[in-house]
Amino acid sequence: MGLHPLFTLGPRLQLCASMVRKNVKLADVGTDHAYLPIWLAKKAIISNAVAADIRQGPLEKAKDNIQRYHVQDTVTARLSDGLNKISPNEADDIVIAGMGGEMINKIIENAKWLKDSNKRLILQPMTSVPELRKYLAENGFALLKEQAVIDENHAYTVILSYYNPKLIKTDELYEYIGMLNPKKQADREYVSRVLVSLSKKARGMEISGKNREAQKLYNIIDNIKSKV
Ligand SMILES: C[S@@+](CC[C@H](N)C(=O)[O-])C[C@H]1O[C@@H](n2cnc3c(N)ncnc32)[C@H](O)[C@@H]1O
Repeated sequence: MGLHPLFTLGPRLQLCASMVRKNVKLADVGTDHAYLPIWLAKKAIISNAVAADIRQGPLEKAKDNIQRYHVQDTVTARLSDGLNKISPNEADDIVIAGMGGEMINKIIENAKWLKDSNKRLILQPMTSVPELRKYLAENGFALLKEQAVIDENHAYTVILSYYNPKLIKTDELYEYIGMLNPKKQADREYVSRVLVSLSKKARGMEISGKNREAQKLYNIIDNIKSKV
């Protein structure tokens, strides 16, 4: 069988891939098609990967793709709810992408071995991003980096985090913009969407008579705007 052409990752998964360290063992939780570990294996960036998914359907897709791109020596598909079926010595860097923030929190909560400063978490939440940042800070996970990306007109943020309680720095804006830098174009675009959603929330509070909470949120909005 001839060699298959190497596919490229879209901007969102490409940003996740850029945060994976060289020569590490990877766990991709909620892998679906397994494109991320396959791409990293093809590029010889990782030494090993477990491509994990909770559902059989996506896992079969992952297995087919692993065969198709001939990376079965490096990437193994595994049925697992979160990291439940992955042991600490199988993963240095853990990617959890394309899931809700609350689900990501649950997956981290159920894998106490992530509280190890040698591990890296690369997290790309689709929803509940403030809840995820709050959970990380409250549980000793510091942010090392955060960057936004625009992919097919959607804005996503990717968080690189690791266990280091001493390094945690939070302020009033932490939950809302984390380490994003609104001076950068994609981060600014992401933050402007955050501002739209916060403004709607504040307006809703006002309408339901929660004026003090609304004012607090308006102050946060003004504070964020001053950084853009
Ligand atoms: C939207 S896909 C994301 C695929 C890929 N990570 C990406 O970002 O393009 C989400 C995948 O997560 C899987 N999933 C949801 N909850 C999970 C859990 N608790 N553990 C493992 N996989 C899970 C789903 O079955 C689905 O295949």
